[in-house]
Amino acid sequence: MLVKSKRGWELSDRDATPEGLYLTRRRFVTALAAGPILAGTLLGGCDDTGADAGKKAAAAATDDPSAKLYPVARNTRYGVDRALTEEKFATSYNNFYEFGSHKEIAKAAQALAIRPWTVKIDGMVEKERTIAIDDLLRQMPLEERVYRFRCVEAWAMTVPWSGFPLKALVDFARPLSSAKYLRMETFLDAAVAPGQKASWYPWPYVEGLTVAEATNELAFIATGLYGKPIARQNGAPLRLVVPWKYGFKNVKSLVRLSFTAERPRTFWEAIEAREYGFWANVNPQVPHPRWSQATEKLLGEGSSFEPKKVPTQLYNGYGEYVAPLYAELKGERLFM
Ligand code: MTE
Repeated sequence: MLVKSKRGWELSDRDATPEGLYLTRRRFVTALAAGPILAGTLLGGCDDTGADAGKKAAAAATDDPSAKLYPVARNTRYGVDRALTEEKFATSYNNFYEFGSHKEIAKAAQALAIRPWTVKIDGMVEKERTIAIDDLLRQMPLEERVYRFRCVEAWAMTVPWSGFPLKALVDFARPLSSAKYLRMETFLDAAVAPGQKASWYPWPYVEGLTVAEATNELAFIATGLYGKPIARQNGAPLRLVVPWKYGFKNVKSLVRLSFTAERPRTFWEAIEAREYGFWANVNPQVPHPRWSQATEKLLGEGSSFEPKKVPTQLYNGYGEYVAPLYAELKGERLFM
């Protein structure tokens, strides 16, 4: 399906974020950074968005039955060379189209019931099964990893995810050796996620990896963020984290994992394959058809008028781990 209507995370060809939207957003982010009084002044009547919703989400996260599992020990193998993004920015500036095609979906996302929650494992596996989230959490090796995150819109953050290597879940699933891809699917319930009433999107949100990518040591399933259960707006109760790829690959609120022989058709690929391809590996040298990917703006850093921009790195700086995955792939659009 080709959607020509403008999406919230689409960017103008002049810059990675439409200037007006960006400045409004930066003003908002800077206001929050400046403290509650200024934030109150600038936000005026908008107390249900942004920081407030972030706070409510943090409270909701402590109601989560898995709260006692966190914090977990940090795996220092994956250290990064830049400061952590403040939690309030990562939990109030989100893409989650199920709850709206703009960034302030944190409040709306609180409608998502995260218990009971089950994950179905099917397709090319020894035995199909469905597992409840808390049973899964008990069986997975939890750890914390600080990763860089790079959205295709050219904003970026650095956050501490808690969770487990996706490889542990693949091993648990016992795929057949003939399985080549892992297809991952988000919940489908338009009654709680009004965005899913928009019939021009190919719901549910689907993403995919090759099994080789899924078992790469960097591929991670996040169940927590900032030492707590992950907030709904960030993809509770479990989401994919693949830091060498653009953010849209990091599918949220997973309910189904299927092993397949065929490459799955992903949500954004179905909408606009020329702009949001299957591989979507980060590369500053390969511009999006409508904007440059050379630099990225760090969430919550800099000012409205001078946001802090840093150079984007090939594979988002994770080439030493993942470049070999692609060495033999010829003729594929690896960076789009
Ligand atoms: N997963 C689902 N189910 N729905 C979405 O709209 N948006 C993607 C990704 N995962 C999205 C999703 C995009 S475009 C980005 S940049 C990241 O989630 C944003 O993650 P964050 O909100 O935790 O920063």
